[in-house]
Amino acid sequence: MKRLTEFEGLADPSFSQAVVEWQRSHGRHTLPWQNTRDAYRIWLSEIMLQQTQVAAVLGYYARFLERFPTVQALAEAPSEDVMAHWSGLGYYTRARNLHACAKRVVQDYGGVFPSDPALLAELPGIGRSTAAAIAAFSSGARAAILDGNVKRVFARVFGINEYPGIKPVEDALWRRAEALLPENDGIEAYTQGLMDLGATLCTRSRPDCARCPLQARCVAYATGRQAELPVRKPKKATPEKRTAMLVIVDRGQVLLEQRPDSGIWGGLLSLPEVGGHVPVEDEDDLFDTADMARAAAQFGEVEEVQALGHLVHVFTHYRLHIAPFMVRLAARGGASGRHLWWKLDAIAQAPLPAPVKKLLVELGQPSLFV
Ligand code: ADE
Ligand code: SF4
Repeated sequence: MKRLTEFEGLADPSFSQAVVEWQRSHGRHTLPWQNTRDAYRIWLSEIMLQQTQVAAVLGYYARFLERFPTVQALAEAPSEDVMAHWSGLGYYTRARNLHACAKRVVQDYGGVFPSDPALLAELPGIGRSTAAAIAAFSSGARAAILDGNVKRVFARVFGINEYPGIKPVEDALWRRAEALLPENDGIEAYTQGLMDLGATLCTRSRPDCARCPLQARCVAYATGRQAELPVRKPKKATPEKRTAMLVIVDRGQVLLEQRPDSGIWGGLLSLPEVGGHVPVEDEDDLFDTADMARAAAQFGEVEEVQALGHLVHVFTHYRLHIAPFMVRLAARGGASGRHLWWKLDAIAQAPLPAPVKKLLVELGQPSLFV
């Protein structure tokens, strides 16, 4: 009797067959790290390809191998030399881990990469998916990969309706990836085929479903949801903050305040603010005109305070609701060093934050400032 496994129900030999057949007829076969079982060359390519596209890797790969032809040569090289040959590829932690990994392979394994994916995954810079790829390509080990490209293909084919970056969804994808491995041979073509599918057909923005060997079984294709899958990382709600600004006008001039050098709008002039950028906790908790009059009293004898509506400015980390209050003075008070009067008809020249300048330019209509 067939033994029941936890993968029962997920397994489907026709999946890997479709991928393997497509890889053999339409996949990539002449990349410089293919057609070899040299684990050093395969490992190097997989690390370079972790966050970089094939076209950008090719030149670096050739120069790197010329300078460091073996894992021993790499292990013995000065780190400046290794970094110099990585320079321009980016994500430099990869280069530091690469060097550390070469040293470990020489010290712990006599210069021969282990073939067990679990041992590979203990080495610096080699995660579970990279370990599986190296093991499959260098020794035919039956291990599952799950990189970003494969996650995208699986999310579409199986119609995964949750963000694949969270642990339970990722765990489920790993179980699927393992259940779908080819039963007997073909692990190399299957592994390369998944990579090639993700890189050449099932691309992020324009999947070429017409040529895809998985089209007949693809949930995204069947439901027209290629653009919605994989589900994007849920955005955190942008915090809302608010501030009141005093638009203190007198004889065609407006009172501006120098902002501190650091922080939001550092070093610019702006309108005097009351209370700073405080989180909005209660939508109905509005600023009070009488509070504004009290705050404005430091700048002179207040004649009238008038609320001027409301504008919203979007920062990277929060949305700022600005409540401007027009203040007319009967007499100016003593000015502090951080404050100055600026002619309204020259407001376009003032070094102001964009929303404040916009507000003042809009308010600068003659009717408001006579
Ligand atoms: N990306 C990651 N591994 C790859 C490989 N072996 N071939 C092409 N692209 C890849
Ligand atoms: Fe990707 Fe389209 Fe193939 Fe589905 S049919 S796996 S969306 S390329």
